[in-house]
Amino acid sequence: MAKKKKDTKGKDKEKARAKAREKELKALAKASMSKAAKGKAEKTKGKDKDRAKAKAKDLVKAARKADSKAKDSAAPRISKKPWGQDGKALDGVRILDFTHVQSGPTCTQLLAWFGADVIKVERPGSGDITRGQLQDIPGVDSLYFTMLNHNKRSITLDSKSKEGMKVLERLVKTCDVLVENFAPGALDRMGLTWERIHAWNPRMIVASVKGFGPGPYEDCKVYENVAQCAGGAASTTGFLDGPPLVTGAQIGDSGTGLHLALGIVCALYQRNRTGRGQRVLASMQDGVLNLCRVKLRDQQRLAHGPLKEYTQYGQGIPFGEATPRAGNDSGGGQPGVILKCKGWETDPNAYIYFITQAPVWDKICDLIGEPEWKTHPDYAKPPARLPRLKQIFERIEQWTMTKTKFEVMNECNALDIPVGPILSMKELAEEQSLRETGTVVEVDHPTRGKYLSVGNPIKLSDSISEVKRSPLLGEHTDEILAKVLKFTPREIAEIKASGATGEAAKGEAPKVETPKAQAAE
Ligand code: COA
Repeated sequence: MAKKKKDTKGKDKEKARAKAREKELKALAKASMSKAAKGKAEKTKGKDKDRAKAKAKDLVKAARKADSKAKDSAAPRISKKPWGQDGKALDGVRILDFTHVQSGPTCTQLLAWFGADVIKVERPGSGDITRGQLQDIPGVDSLYFTMLNHNKRSITLDSKSKEGMKVLERLVKTCDVLVENFAPGALDRMGLTWERIHAWNPRMIVASVKGFGPGPYEDCKVYENVAQCAGGAASTTGFLDGPPLVTGAQIGDSGTGLHLALGIVCALYQRNRTGRGQRVLASMQDGVLNLCRVKLRDQQRLAHGPLKEYTQYGQGIPFGEATPRAGNDSGGGQPGVILKCKGWETDPNAYIYFITQAPVWDKICDLIGEPEWKTHPDYAKPPARLPRLKQIFERIEQWTMTKTKFEVMNECNALDIPVGPILSMKELAEEQSLRETGTVVEVDHPTRGKYLSVGNPIKLSDSISEVKRSPLLGEHTDEILAKVLKFTPREIAEIKASGATGEAAKGEAPKVETPKAQAAE
């Protein structure tokens, strides 16, 4: 942050200079206007007076132009370095990462990829519970952990000990953002209330993921699927005649992590103006509901009649009081479903999502061998097709079943028909184009060896993400105590002797899965 302070000082100076120049120009314009109005008006009349007035107006214009230039001059100079070689978007931002499991770690991982220095504080001996969950190699940090904690540093600290709190205080004073996703009240119980943090560091942003926002459930602990159920995803996912379903995409955890990351970046931006930090809250229920926005849309549409793009409409099944489960129906205005492709009998992923987008309807008719549907009154226009969607898709499926999903993809895309093959995780892991963009990356780990991970899915052209391995438990404890927090060797010895950082935890992953860990998702 030292460099940042210097930059801010420079910017302030530049702003003051620009302000003074603007004042000077305005005074000059005012003076010459009154000179023109007084002096010249006495000597000359009519045209001369007008000319003098026009000249004064020009000067005001010039002053305004200088004003806008002055505003510009407060902005940093445009970098002359090549794209991607002038640091990272969040360089200079330091994060106290008090997160665990999935939602919080996805957020801080994103910030780390954008260049923030993320210091993960972990409980001595065990660390983030996911280190030991779903372990594929005994004694080695799980993929669960390694894939959610890239580009971070790890310090072990017992935050409930006196010495641990001393270290935490210094961390709070040194960092820009504290991110946490403990159960409700845990941070306060630790002694880290907002008031205390704000008193220690008024610039600190405190960002939290919680299961629910304020209300009847605010004290509840929440995991991914609880959020999917409470946020409206489960009640609207699945088939009409089946139970509610949760989705494999971690919209409750990773989705809320993303929401939180945006809140943090906004708070950092606002702090540039106000100088002060603020609290950021992303509740998992809110995040899931935000992602289910179209289903709340449909809830309100129900008051005005059936949802005609839902397959159940064509089947004559009446709608109830709430947005129903719609199977694989498209959630938008262009009907679509999942159809079988060649090999579906043995390959669980030999399917394609097919959208009967209205502008390409004629091409679809020709492709599937139903050219007369282009003009037939039952099929030609979208409203006429709505009650017949089931039958239409059955006909299209007869065609898709003669091709592999990739053949359907190629043939349809050549005609601008939007379709999507159902790709398995195996296919995604092997997809060359995803490797080339860094969306799928191979990472080397000292105890695990090479493994695949998902890299930064958000690409910035001037802030290129490098995916670095996750830290071992407590790997950076010494480095952080000495170099970041500037404790003296004596102080470090005292902290360590107190047991606040644990003993010999460095590099070890927990060996046994605890029952709690197995239950947790
Ligand atoms: N040193 C000492 N104690 C520490 C510590 C450290 N470094 N880090 C954590 N702890 C303590 C906490 O203070 C807390 O103690 P307390 O309950 O006595 O106050 C305790 O560890 C456990 O924290 P908690 O968050 O309750 O963990 P949990 O395993 O019981 O619950 C969740 C896990 C995820 C259910 C819960 O944290 C939660 O609901 N979080 C918010 C929602 C969320 O993010 N869910 C998604 C998870 S992917």
